[in-house]
Amino acid sequence: MRSFMGRDILSLKDFERHEFFHVFDVAMQMEPIARSRRNTDLLKDKTLVTAFYQPSTRTRLAHEAAMHRLGGHVTGFADAKMTRAGDWYQESIKDTVKMLEFYGDVIVMRHFQQGAPHEAAKWASVPIINGGDGWGEHPTQILTDLYTVLREKGRIDGLKWLAVGDMRMRTMHSLAYALTQFDCPITFVAPPEMSLLPEFKAELKQYSLNFREAEHVEQAIADADVILVEPVVQPDYTKARQEAGEHGETPANYKITRELLEKKAKPDAILLHSLPRMDEIPTDVDITRWSRYWQEAFNGVVMRMALLALVLGAME
Ligand code: CP
Repeated sequence: MRSFMGRDILSLKDFERHEFFHVFDVAMQMEPIARSRRNTDLLKDKTLVTAFYQPSTRTRLAHEAAMHRLGGHVTGFADAKMTRAGDWYQESIKDTVKMLEFYGDVIVMRHFQQGAPHEAAKWASVPIINGGDGWGEHPTQILTDLYTVLREKGRIDGLKWLAVGDMRMRTMHSLAYALTQFDCPITFVAPPEMSLLPEFKAELKQYSLNFREAEHVEQAIADADVILVEPVVQPDYTKARQEAGEHGETPANYKITRELLEKKAKPDAILLHSLPRMDEIPTDVDITRWSRYWQEAFNGVVMRMALLALVLGAME
């Protein structure tokens, strides 16, 4: 197996099946540390640099929390406007990263431009972790989701997935690439203008992903073991920031309500959402037996602990 030490985590297209299981194995070793709310000294000599060109609650803070749990240090920025990359200079990724690599030992980057972390990885001598790039990918989120499935269902192979939301989203791209490595048929439900792009569908067929598309969640929910939901009412991920404004409501086709779950879902299906949410999962679903998004939040820290420990060479 390729070593994770010094490796960039840019895309799940790069991941082989046994590498997923290796990351999950390391995450399981990290889990007791996070669960007991202890900090260890595994990464006490290491520093994480956060380079966030787009807002984030979970991805940035979960990486920071993970670094703290492992005894490491954190520096960085949560808003590029406070840096030369976001002011008059519009400093390039290359010039920014050629600085950041001396401020820490690993960089997690979120950017509104697809491919920005890949560009950073070309210039950096330290590992780059993609924290979400435009409509591109969000590998650490989907690793978190798959780990959540493994912990909640005891397996990944053989489970049927339903993915609902905007198929242009970075999470959906990482999910589809990841599931090519597992025996997991998936049904995608999206508004026509947000459906899988033809070139992406062709790529998924080439990778032998067992997928189909449906128009309404009601057509697919009864078969699903894992229901993964993302918003269809959401900002443009290619913009650095969008302020709150008028927006519509989520149509019933793309909404998972308590009533729908009670009427049609398998009793042991699990419901994931990377969050933030709009109205696609109403809050009265939170205390049903299907919801697992708060477990996802916990696992988000565990997964980032595993990835940081691996790319920094503290775990083999
Ligand atoms: N799930 C996720 O990426 O959340 P943030 O945008 O808050 O990081």
